[in-house]
Amino acid sequence: MTAKIIDGKAFAARVRRDVAAHVATMKERHAMTPGLAVVLVGDDPASRVYVKNKHASTVEVGMNSFEHRLPAETHEGDLLALIARLNTDPAVHGILVQLPLPDHIDSALVINAIDPAKDVDGFHISNVGLLGTGQKSMVPCTPLGCLMMLRDHHGSLSGLNAVVVGRSNIVGKPMAQLLLGDSCTVTIAHSRSKDLPTICRGADILVAAVGRPEMITGDFVKKGATVIDVGINRIDAGAGKTRLVGDCHFDSCAAQAGAITPVPGGVGPMTIACLLANTLTACARSHGLSEPEGLTA
Ligand code: GUN
Repeated sequence: MTAKIIDGKAFAARVRRDVAAHVATMKERHAMTPGLAVVLVGDDPASRVYVKNKHASTVEVGMNSFEHRLPAETHEGDLLALIARLNTDPAVHGILVQLPLPDHIDSALVINAIDPAKDVDGFHISNVGLLGTGQKSMVPCTPLGCLMMLRDHHGSLSGLNAVVVGRSNIVGKPMAQLLLGDSCTVTIAHSRSKDLPTICRGADILVAAVGRPEMITGDFVKKGATVIDVGINRIDAGAGKTRLVGDCHFDSCAAQAGAITPVPGGVGPMTIACLLANTLTACARSHGLSEPEGLTA
């Protein structure tokens, strides 16, 4: 069997175009521009790249981008004061505090200081609770992107067996909640699960978010299953070079799967696209407008 490659890059480009069209309409009909504030504390090189990309994508879809770069030694109180200002700023509809934060700052305290309606990461405890109880919430971007690709590929997910490998707050747990919301039978497994290959072979949908390079191999995959690889791991490729691989061993999984996301070019590009979608959703909700179709959970 040759697996269909789910092209996350093309899908994300479609989502961004869709968001841009909604932004243009909002500007025209309601004289309103969605705004995203991104806060970066310190100068972690990877975080700087992410923030730069987020800024460029935000501007590209016609939204306002507000960047706040603070030194690594910023006091927690000063960061909380900035968030309080952004919470009440009517031009800001989404707030994202780039993680990880420096060790002297309590990340949970900071995240929970964000107005839940502006929490475009979906990490605030209120949004976690709303998602867990099947209520309208802001949904974490990476699992939302995975859900969009799965819905696009399968149509209905109802009744399918889904196995999520990974139990992080950012991906594994919200992914499981979203799949439950779409009436899948959901198993959450992780690196310590007993007999992981057997559990995974029961999956019609296998989501790998375990953070271990190429840990999921073809013998974990049921023939014809859909494999969503959330992992992005940089490994040594010899001769002083590195390369990006997922949590799935691509060739052996693709030989079994019906459809699979590649790394790079699968889930990765969907994350920023969904951040923009969430900012648009937050803006629409804050003004009592109808939600953009196909861009929410
Ligand atoms: N750092 C790595 N991924 C993320 C993310 O999805 N959101 C935030 N805020 N920080 C991150």
